[in-house]
Amino acid sequence: MKTIEEFTNKIICGDCLEVIKQIPDNSIDSIITDPPAGIAFMGEDWDDFTSVKTTKSQLITWMNAGVKFSSAGLLEFQEFIYLTFSEAIRVVKPGSHILVWALPRTSHHTAMGLERAGFEIRDKIYFVFGSGFPKSLNIGKAVDKLLGNTREVISKQERSGRSGGILGKDTKIIHYKTKGNSEWEGYGTALKPAVEEWILARKPLSEKTITDNVLRWGTGGINIDACRVPLQEGEDLSINREGDKKLDTNNRGWGFKAVSRDNEGRFPSHLILDESEEVDNLFPKNTSRYFQHCSADTRIFYGNKASKKEKGEGNNHPTVKSLSLMQYLCRLVIPTGGIVLDPFAGSGTTLIAACQEGFNFIGIEKEPKYCRIAEERLKNLIQE
Ligand SMILES: C[S@@+](CC[C@H](N)C(=O)[O-])C[C@H]1O[C@@H](n2cnc3c(N)ncnc32)[C@H](O)[C@@H]1O
Repeated sequence: MKTIEEFTNKIICGDCLEVIKQIPDNSIDSIITDPPAGIAFMGEDWDDFTSVKTTKSQLITWMNAGVKFSSAGLLEFQEFIYLTFSEAIRVVKPGSHILVWALPRTSHHTAMGLERAGFEIRDKIYFVFGSGFPKSLNIGKAVDKLLGNTREVISKQERSGRSGGILGKDTKIIHYKTKGNSEWEGYGTALKPAVEEWILARKPLSEKTITDNVLRWGTGGINIDACRVPLQEGEDLSINREGDKKLDTNNRGWGFKAVSRDNEGRFPSHLILDESEEVDNLFPKNTSRYFQHCSADTRIFYGNKASKKEKGEGNNHPTVKSLSLMQYLCRLVIPTGGIVLDPFAGSGTTLIAACQEGFNFIGIEKEPKYCRIAEERLKNLIQE
């Protein structure tokens, strides 16, 4: 076993399960991580669990419970989350909060893996974004192709290939929009992604009360004031509907809240919105202001996408998170001066965000090429 100082503010290249085994007990304040989702995303090996073997006793438990085995390796994925977080729970302090990203399609497995590892599921944060891309099979078109049916061309679009893309910038791409007549016309296989989940869980307290726990370990609470939803210009929440000043009940009363606290911003909720027009339009005029906004372009298929500037030069990681979202999540669960662990660090966004918010970090990533990108990004941040 090593000391925590040997890990702090470093990126360790290796398998997280093996690396975590060397971290001392109760030494970390929180975990924020974006693990695989178990769907073999874009053919990436790290998201394919068909080869992970579940333990024999686990298989028997599942079979006795009547669980049918999925060919997609999802139970193996759950087992992977369970095994990883069974080790991770040892290294976080009692009362530590963890935030684990999940895809709606497989989040039940992620949550079960965490719960079986001993974490208490406290909540789920939903991040809503506007420009997800549907990865849906056009069934009508596939049926027509199979049956040899002709499809009517409705429109034709010509675009230039993107510079730097595989096709080169002078290539013309012609896109035909077609329509068929089969009864399957208009059917597809998937919805457009517009939400991702962050599972908020906590290691059980070691003390009888939350106050005893925070005083002993410095963990157990989430930082509400650091995450209040900013008020808009001219908004004054200390005035009630009748135009009078609200009573100051020291934030303990059920009706009126403390004047000073309200004016620091609204209480954070478990809904976060991106800043796209599409998401803003979901709300009646001016009501999206009740929720936290985090800037994010939308990442194709998987969730929110980071802009090129914040990703860093040459970052080709396929699932880079947005910095402003990660900064917000860091502020929410890492206690002041605390250490956050990201065991699936990828290109290091959690680590950059933690550093920017003044926290310490430990990153683990098994792919050397992503470790190098994360190190480069951190180096640039320190230089800035
Ligand atoms: C979804 S990505 C994280 C992306 C990251 N949030 C970012 O912004 O760049 C998950 C990462 O976990 C890594 N990974 C998968 N299994 C791992 C393991 N057992 N140990 C360490 N890293 C692993 C993958 O290589 C991948 O880079």
